[in-house]
Amino acid sequence: MSGADINVVNCCKSFPVAQSDPVAVLKGVSFDLLAGHSLAITGASGSGKSTLLQILGAMEYPGSGEVFVNGRDITRLDQGARAEFRNREVGFIFQSHYLLPQLSALDNVLVPTWNSRRESDQHLARAHELLKRVGLESLARRLPGQLSGGERQRVAVARALIMEPALILADEPTGALDRTNSESLMDLLLEINSIERATLVLVTHSPFCAERMEREISLLDGVIVK
Ligand SMILES: Nc1ncnc2c1ncn2[C@@H]1O[C@H](COP(=O)(O)OP(=O)(O)OP(=O)(O)O)[C@@H](O)[C@H]1O
Ligand SMILES: [Mg+2]
Repeated sequence: MSGADINVVNCCKSFPVAQSDPVAVLKGVSFDLLAGHSLAITGASGSGKSTLLQILGAMEYPGSGEVFVNGRDITRLDQGARAEFRNREVGFIFQSHYLLPQLSALDNVLVPTWNSRRESDQHLARAHELLKRVGLESLARRLPGQLSGGERQRVAVARALIMEPALILADEPTGALDRTNSESLMDLLLEINSIERATLVLVTHSPFCAERMEREISLLDGVIVK
């Protein structure tokens, strides 16, 4: 696997507001990130960090502007190609783990493979390998309800990696964790960034997490201020 080169060009996004003018959240955001590198997105609550991350992951359309991932403008893909891009090239990690409660840790890791034509034993082998990498091999058969918060978030990381994404997008992945679990989750994300060469974009409120990334951009009033 190799990482994704990202070029965001003059990205704007507004949200409609009932009986009022739309609110401009992103007002011309541009940045580049080379494949395999890591970037923190910081800024106050409401500054548009999650919106930008969702645009990068083709979960939202920008109002205007372009988002090139390995040279392809993802804002111009049709619905099917967008879904394929999200599933094949992006690994998402959120503040909440969104694991399916009725499935074991192992089966949760395998969820993104459900639509895939690849051999299922290859996926199974990778799922086991990933659970081992996140230190949960012995807990593979447990349900999410039988895991701690930190362990659940590690399952979510393994799930994000199962399709060997070129781009990992993490939205405050340590937001619900204590300091020890936060630090080990950050170690894990950086290890994956360096071993798998996946490009890593991390939204965080934590200066400790931000400074562990190679670069940081900070949003204020819809633009990048650093
Ligand atoms: N679907 C939506 N419809 C309308 N407004 C929205 C929508 N999504 C986000 N917003 C608004 O856009 C602004 C930016 O939201 P966003 O979630 O990107 O902020 P954020 O920087 O991630 O904040 P936080 O740190 O609190 O997670 C906020 O004012 C929010 O209310
Ligand atoms: Mg957010």
